[in-house]
Amino acid sequence: MEKLFGLIGHPVGHSMSPLMHNDAFNQLGIDGHYHAFDIEEGDLKEAIAAFKVLNVSGFNVTIPHKVKVMEFLDEIDEEAKMIGAVNTVVNNNGRLIGYNTDGRGYLSSLLTVIQKPILESNVLVIGAGGASRAVVTAICDHGVKKLALTNRTLEKAKEIKNNYNNYNKCNNTSMDIVSLKEAEANIEVYDIIINTTSIGMSPNVEGIPIAVDHIKRNVVLSDLIYNPLKTRWLQLGEEKGAIIHNGVGMFAMQGALAFHKWTGIEPDTKRMMNKVITQLGGTSC
Ligand code: ATR
Repeated sequence: MEKLFGLIGHPVGHSMSPLMHNDAFNQLGIDGHYHAFDIEEGDLKEAIAAFKVLNVSGFNVTIPHKVKVMEFLDEIDEEAKMIGAVNTVVNNNGRLIGYNTDGRGYLSSLLTVIQKPILESNVLVIGAGGASRAVVTAICDHGVKKLALTNRTLEKAKEIKNNYNNYNKCNNTSMDIVSLKEAEANIEVYDIIINTTSIGMSPNVEGIPIAVDHIKRNVVLSDLIYNPLKTRWLQLGEEKGAIIHNGVGMFAMQGALAFHKWTGIEPDTKRMMNKVITQLGGTSC
């Protein structure tokens, strides 16, 4: 019998997950279908209950439900708890188990472009929301020379640092909280700079999260945004000689990790990435 998978979010009309997952099901000959469900905030509890009754095999969760959904699941794995958000749910014989594949997805994508190991790198993360927590968790798990966190609202960055003091995997990581001003003034010390905010995302494509005038040559500028594929920030960085990395890889990899949790099969991540790039009008790699 065909297995049903899905995405819950609001809005979900422009999501590229159905395209990516359904193509992988077809390619691998798996009898499955992935559908995007537009669920308003007030309907979340009923939607999850309905998924259980309908025996949906697994689903992704996106904005605005990533935090709230945790209340309605039977179990949440440690990494998702640390991040404080769930983006992937597996139906394990009627028990809904929540995971977060964003951080690992991000890290696997980042590892494909960096030249200097993260363990020898000074990393700056901009932003202190859910995406930032996923990235910080993955970087802590991996290990890093030095990690600095900056955000418009510095209090939120401090909260992340406090939470991570209790996370054993982060014990060996030195985490500095720096203001945007300080980070910008010392921008040349960083080897990897990661934008986890929505600054520069379509349709407000003009904004940049931090000035790149004095970046180190060969710095990696990594933007979680994939629409546009090359944000203004990445364009400016590229002109200054930076290695640039957009969010398509993270999007494909988080999807691939979810796909693996649901099916036990590793899909072709390059194909997944190219599906998204083509849809966004870019040239496949
Ligand atoms: P997500 O789950 O995608 O991380 P979020 O939790 O709403 O979304 O977090 C958004 C992040 O982008 C925050 O770090 C936010 O900064 P604040 O904590 O100061 O609100 C940042 N952000 C969004 N728009 C911004 C803007 N115009 N200028 C500066 N920071 C912005």
